[in-house]
Amino acid sequence: MFIVFEGIDGTGKSTQVQRLAEALRAQGREVITSKEPTDGPHGKRLRDSAETGRLSPQEELDLFHQDRLEHVEGLIKPALARGQTVILDRYFFSTMAYQGVRGFDPLEIRRLNEEFAPLPDLVFILELDLETALERIGVRDGQANQFEQREALQKCHEVFASLRDDFIHRIDAQKNPEEVHQDIVQHLPR
Ligand code: TYD
Repeated sequence: MFIVFEGIDGTGKSTQVQRLAEALRAQGREVITSKEPTDGPHGKRLRDSAETGRLSPQEELDLFHQDRLEHVEGLIKPALARGQTVILDRYFFSTMAYQGVRGFDPLEIRRLNEEFAPLPDLVFILELDLETALERIGVRDGQANQFEQREALQKCHEVFASLRDDFIHRIDAQKNPEEVHQDIVQHLPR
């Protein structure tokens, strides 16, 4: 099984990735968890750029794609081929949302990704109102970049909200982590 968690920053994705992994391991499944951007060289450059100065939109998009290509070939496909379950914290739906904000067409991003990145069996989009998300990631009223961040995350939310595939499930991330986890496991095949 290939499972992906998506959602704007502050929705609790990494917590739910870990909880779901534990629950599936307890059922006897072999589970691999991973994230994007990865800890590989491209992912590291992307993370560093958050502090050292943002890359151009095109350079950033290319790096996310290179990072994902290596992730797909080096980890995701081999693990799925071994029969393991793969759970990811972010995948190409994040590129549609975040690089969509930087001016690229989300549907074109999706088309490019589907050429090399397998579709997940399940995608959980954790949904939270913007104020709570901003609070959780420590963005306070009056901060210099507050408006910019608010506007960007609002647009990301809209891209996530526009996704309409059968494998996509929206989860209310306002609840406590255990309740969110229970909502998620309802959608697993029995
Ligand atoms: P995040 O999951 O927040 O990582 P961290 O562990 O550092 O909290 O991801 C880092 C940022 O990368 C996040 O703001 C979303 C962004 N991102 C993109 O812009 N495009 C992508 O394709 C992906 C996967 C992430």
